[in-house]
Amino acid sequence: MRTIDAPTIIRTKRDGGTLSEQAIDWVIDAYTHGGVAEEQMSALLMAIFLRGMTAGETARWTAAMVASGERFDFTDLHRDGRPLALVDKHSTGGVGDKITIPLLPVVMACGAAVPQASGRGLGHTGGTLDKLESIPGFTAELSKNQIRQQLCDIGAAIFAAGELAPADRKTYALRDITSTVDSMPLIASSVMSKKLAEGARALVLDVKVGRGAFLKTEPEARELARTMVDLGKANGIPTRALLTAMDRPLGRTVGNAVEVVESIEVLAGGGPDDVVALTLALATEMLDAAGIDDVDPAETLRDGSAMDRFRQLVAAQGGDLSQPLPVGASSETVTAPRGGIMGDIDAMGVAMAAWRLGAGRAQPGEPVQSGAGVRIHRSPGEPVTAGEALFTLYTDTPDRITDAMAELDGAWRIGDDAPADSPLIIDRVG
Ligand code: URA
Repeated sequence: MRTIDAPTIIRTKRDGGTLSEQAIDWVIDAYTHGGVAEEQMSALLMAIFLRGMTAGETARWTAAMVASGERFDFTDLHRDGRPLALVDKHSTGGVGDKITIPLLPVVMACGAAVPQASGRGLGHTGGTLDKLESIPGFTAELSKNQIRQQLCDIGAAIFAAGELAPADRKTYALRDITSTVDSMPLIASSVMSKKLAEGARALVLDVKVGRGAFLKTEPEARELARTMVDLGKANGIPTRALLTAMDRPLGRTVGNAVEVVESIEVLAGGGPDDVVALTLALATEMLDAAGIDDVDPAETLRDGSAMDRFRQLVAAQGGDLSQPLPVGASSETVTAPRGGIMGDIDAMGVAMAAWRLGAGRAQPGEPVQSGAGVRIHRSPGEPVTAGEALFTLYTDTPDRITDAMAELDGAWRIGDDAPADSPLIIDRVG
């Protein structure tokens, strides 16, 4: 067999060729163990971004990333004498997408068990772990034994992928700073490598489409959904996907602690309609995938059982909800220049404003500001009075406010008519 080297692999993809299975296995393994330099992987990721990958290459890239680390197996775990109904959900990344935070407690309260390997912020999108780590004391660094124990005791664990798919951990961080996130095969393999390794027995995907998503058009998002559903099924994990709209931010908050606060409102039986609707739609899919059909997930928000599960989950992972959640020390409010009806709000503009305020990172490993974010006071279609507050921006670094305000500028408008309503859930694949 000919020797494999990084420059040849990069050149093959740069020139539009197809990578062999051996080349993919080699490059993923060598990069994980330091045998391929960051510059070389950056070049290869950019070549993949520009040239794409075939279905066969994507499947092999995913398998190689799974093989780069451990693969959990929780099938021996039981609760109340029955095997755990292990199911998980993953979103491809949105703006204000805090859904995992209320969703996990809802499905826990309905009897499913969720081993959730979660991520940090990527590109303009927030990360569930960054949001949850705004709760004083909360940790997502769990050992395998802690995860097993939590699944048996309370029915969920939410953890940094750690030794699961370490190749994804490295490429995820590299993609974040090399503008190579929004590539269909790279998103599909990143999501599915973590999910195949984490030990869930069924999977529900929330594939975002629109201005605030990585993939902006429906055909691209559909292809991503189909690719991931097929990858799941080919690996023995029944997988389905919802295609959901991501043109406007989800809910009324974008950032870290502000999104946790809004999630707690949902768990208390309130919260924005779109967040509640998507939480319940995904819960229904997860429960169906887990074979649980005798409970109404909406009831868990009404009777407080989902809130109880959230408290259990946070406490199990060291979080202290008796302490206040952080709020940025500096704030600025955008007020309405005129009365009328709030028009569309561009998810990307709000996401970039939150990122500039410090909710996301520009360098790998950089800490995020827990208190940074944007609160949206008027959602599209709501009446607005001249002079009232429309957005509040929070940060601990006041000199970030000017750039954040510039991102928000042009991302919203006030009109005389309500903007056209579009469905939140576009389709189901799988
Ligand atoms: N979520 C992931 O885990 N990876 C991506 O590439 C995008 C969203």
